[in-house]
Amino acid sequence: MKEYYDLRAPYYDDWWIGAARDRPGWAEEIEDAMATVASLPAARTLDIACGTGYLTQHLPGEVVGLDQSASMLAEARRRLPEGEFVPGDALSLPFSDGSFERIFTSYFYCHLVEDERVRFLAEARRVAPELVVLGSRHGSGEAAERWEDRPLKDGSRWPVFKRVFDPDALAAELDGDVLHAGRWFVVVRSA
Ligand SMILES: C[S@@+](CC[C@H](N)C(=O)[O-])C[C@H]1O[C@@H](n2cnc3c(N)ncnc32)[C@H](O)[C@@H]1O
Repeated sequence: MKEYYDLRAPYYDDWWIGAARDRPGWAEEIEDAMATVASLPAARTLDIACGTGYLTQHLPGEVVGLDQSASMLAEARRRLPEGEFVPGDALSLPFSDGSFERIFTSYFYCHLVEDERVRFLAEARRVAPELVVLGSRHGSGEAAERWEDRPLKDGSRWPVFKRVFDPDALAAELDGDVLHAGRWFVVVRSA
């Protein structure tokens, strides 16, 4: 997956922007969802799998972004030159226990298969007492989990695992509460 995201990094944000074209209300809804997250009490936050920093910039408090892709981190640093970004593996975090007050993660938890989810949740809970997860809401007729065959601009194709979420089911899975449940996005907070 590291190579997939390294290759995709220069145009990754096209997805955030482009999806709005055929998904009514997408751009407005992500603003709403992030406004909800931004209104949480300021906290020392680790944004795990921060990508280009598209959402990192809205997180309240002192924020560190972590990603395993050097190309993604380069984009994040370009976007937020004053930001703190570190390379690292979300499944083996380079931080000691309790280093943060909150973990935020967007469009990462949804890509983890079951054994990775278990490792991720153990790591997240080890370094912070609070976890906020953002992902896609399950649409009607859509498979709740699937392997997608994703093309990149260079013609390469990549198998990517993806889950989409029922808000209450994700809240139950994470032992948390639903912060946002719209047409396109779900945000759950577990503290
Ligand atoms: C779909 S992107 C989401 C990026 C960003 N959070 C967002 O919502 O725009 C997934 C990100 O996870 C990162 N990633 C994948 N596996 C990782 C791992 N094991 N440790 C850290 N980052 C990882 C990728 O490099 C990529 O930046």
